[in-house]
Amino acid sequence: MPRDGGRLYGPDVIDDDGYFGENIAADYDDSAADMFRPGVVDPAVDLLADLAGDGPALELGIGTGRIALPLSGRGVPVHGIDLSRAMVERLRAKPGGEAIDVTIGDFATTRVAGEFSLAYLVFNTIANLTTQDAQVDCFRNAAAHLRPGGCFVVEVGVPDLRRLPPGQNAVPFHISDTRWAFDTYDVATQAMSSNYVTITDGRAEHWSIPFRYVWPAELDLMARLAGLRLRDRWEDWTREPFTSESGKHVSVWEKPADRPAD
Ligand SMILES: C[S@@+](CC[C@H](N)C(=O)[O-])C[C@H]1O[C@@H](n2cnc3c(N)ncnc32)[C@H](O)[C@@H]1O
Repeated sequence: MPRDGGRLYGPDVIDDDGYFGENIAADYDDSAADMFRPGVVDPAVDLLADLAGDGPALELGIGTGRIALPLSGRGVPVHGIDLSRAMVERLRAKPGGEAIDVTIGDFATTRVAGEFSLAYLVFNTIANLTTQDAQVDCFRNAAAHLRPGGCFVVEVGVPDLRRLPPGQNAVPFHISDTRWAFDTYDVATQAMSSNYVTITDGRAEHWSIPFRYVWPAELDLMARLAGLRLRDRWEDWTREPFTSESGKHVSVWEKPADRPAD
């Protein structure tokens, strides 16, 4: 907790926008600038456009449109779901933002009209659902929006437990004169959090966001519960093979096509 004069952004100060309220939305694009580089965005959009084919796509956690806008620019109709009005306002303000319909709600349960050839959930956002039940619901919800033969794509890190020494529950990932950042892990529950302490003009600000880390094989079971089956798993958007050294994966589950009548 920050000492005197500090500010805390954490579970006790979230509002209807979840953890991506006005204070985060205002500089989301700048703080995630690395993820907006063409070298990161273009391969993701290439793969998603291939999978969407001639059908519409549904982005769960569309945010400020980092992926949705260029995908829409490629001619794929995109619909989004997001909890955060503040994030979606930023999407709306961008060129092309008016072409994208967004429904405000929880992507684990919110239904939108239509049938999609692709649903996708990128940038570790599945882990924003902090219970296994919610993650299972999310797979069911994605599957319910897919047409037969449609795909659900998830991009998420492989839990980095190899960095967690026995007896320790925190791993620092950034240390400088004015900023410290660390993850905490509870290996009994798969709860984790990312924490950022920033010093500005002698004042400390602490921002903490909870996650639930999830294993690839566990996601495959969630997919099976939702009637989907694993089609591909790669290390990244350029379809490099997924190996035991991969730090993240891009996984594609497919809704089986309707069987032809006998
Ligand atoms: C890390 S941002 C990713 C935004 C965008 N997909 C991107 O790649 O830049 C996560 C987004 O998911 C949204 N989000 C998190 N949990 C959600 C939930 N349960 N339901 C709907 N939106 C959620 C947040 O509001 C935020 O806009």
